[in-house]
Amino acid sequence: MKRKLSNKGNIIRSSTVPLCHDFSETEVTNMRFSLLEWYRKNKRDLPWRKQACNPDVNQRVYAVWVSEIMLQQTQVATVIDYYNKWMKRWPTFEDLSKATLEEVNEMWAGLGYYSRGRRLFEGAKKVVEELGGQMPQDAESLLKQLPGVGRYTAGAIASIAYNQATGLVDGNVIRVLCRLRIIGGDSTSQPVTDALWQHAERLVDPDAPGDFNQAMMELGAVVCTPKNPDCNNCPLKNYCKAYFQVQKQKQENGKKLVTNGKSGNTVLDIECTLDGCHLCLTESDSYDKSLGVMNYPRKGRKKEAREERTAVCILCRRCSDNSTKYFIVQRPKKGLLAGMWEFPSLLLESEDDSAELQEIISKYGLTLSSSQNRIQVGEVVHIFSHIHQTYVVHAVIINDSDVEQEVVEDTTSPTTRWVTKEIFMEAAVSTAMKKVFKAFEGVMDQKPKVNKKLKPKDDPKELRKQKAIDSFFKPKSSN
Ligand code: ADE
Repeated sequence: MKRKLSNKGNIIRSSTVPLCHDFSETEVTNMRFSLLEWYRKNKRDLPWRKQACNPDVNQRVYAVWVSEIMLQQTQVATVIDYYNKWMKRWPTFEDLSKATLEEVNEMWAGLGYYSRGRRLFEGAKKVVEELGGQMPQDAESLLKQLPGVGRYTAGAIASIAYNQATGLVDGNVIRVLCRLRIIGGDSTSQPVTDALWQHAERLVDPDAPGDFNQAMMELGAVVCTPKNPDCNNCPLKNYCKAYFQVQKQKQENGKKLVTNGKSGNTVLDIECTLDGCHLCLTESDSYDKSLGVMNYPRKGRKKEAREERTAVCILCRRCSDNSTKYFIVQRPKKGLLAGMWEFPSLLLESEDDSAELQEIISKYGLTLSSSQNRIQVGEVVHIFSHIHQTYVVHAVIINDSDVEQEVVEDTTSPTTRWVTKEIFMEAAVSTAMKKVFKAFEGVMDQKPKVNKKLKPKDDPKELRKQKAIDSFFKPKSSN
């Protein structure tokens, strides 16, 4: 792709996007105006938007960086509370650099995708220790120098905090652009991705790049939504080919006259004449009249989540001081849920797995006796992005005198702890483990039955699985 810089620093492209999926210069100018006007009247009052006006540039960048990392894969409504708490605890990146990973994980607990918090923390330390306390100053250096900052986040920080005329593409922008230009090819494919980034770079308003980018995302979040989009109130409907297709269809059905489908002075052309165009809907995945603008975007088939079953053992200790404590262990420092705390668990490797409850906890130097009260809590399902996880949960009620832990705890960096419910709830514990705990409490509230059998499913495969699990939880002495 050939590019040149205009006198305003905005990229003007020699287009490689087929004509039908491209924008004219007039459209670009008019769309910027309409979108920005709409945004300035309708934008949501979000805490990070106030911070983005901070006169201290480092502070501005830090605030936008935190918000954009939190907003990756998480809804605005969920992020607000986390963002406010985070900024209160660590108002500057210098403050964050002095935190510990444990504190960061505690703060992030419940937000998911925990590596995001760790990378923010590592980035803050890098800025202080290696970059002389100066945040990288443009999209390219943000991308290169900050861990966890990809093309989208670099574009967001640079445009919002530095006013750099750089575009961005996130899930909301993909939807808006695909509808505007009837891009129906797989939105994760290379040709579509390239076309979307070209559009984003070209459309961004050089005089207000931060507002423009946020307006595109905002439009996708509140008007051009995945389901039931509010096309009638869309500031870009006159430039939207997907909307025009719907209007044209209504006209063909004799229901309504076309009032739109005009962009500048030209009627929108919605026929792509390019043979085998990678941006068009495919023949096998063709236009569905009942979907209207929701025909766009099209996603490639998602990789199926891996099925996993994990046995979990909740050790519930009735202490002599009348408190109740739970045994939790820390996950390895790398990998899924790195450094987070959880109940002892063991991946059930195969359907025939027939290990024992003792096996889960013996690596922590703990021994169970057959006289202890065992409770079958049941199954708890949690969907991680790539794993469909089923926790097969059991609890054992023990007393102080039952705890003969052989391993001496390393007090500087312990990887096991006995904690009260209150501490458990505040600790760096994932949502999945909190669900497990809730299921346990639910069973305890209903007067637990000792060694209650899980109900096997009717499916013979499930039945085999259930048998394996039952033998897994048999006390040693009854084998
Ligand atoms: N999604 C991610 N970042 C956003 C922002 N700054 N404004 C609106 N939506 C967003």
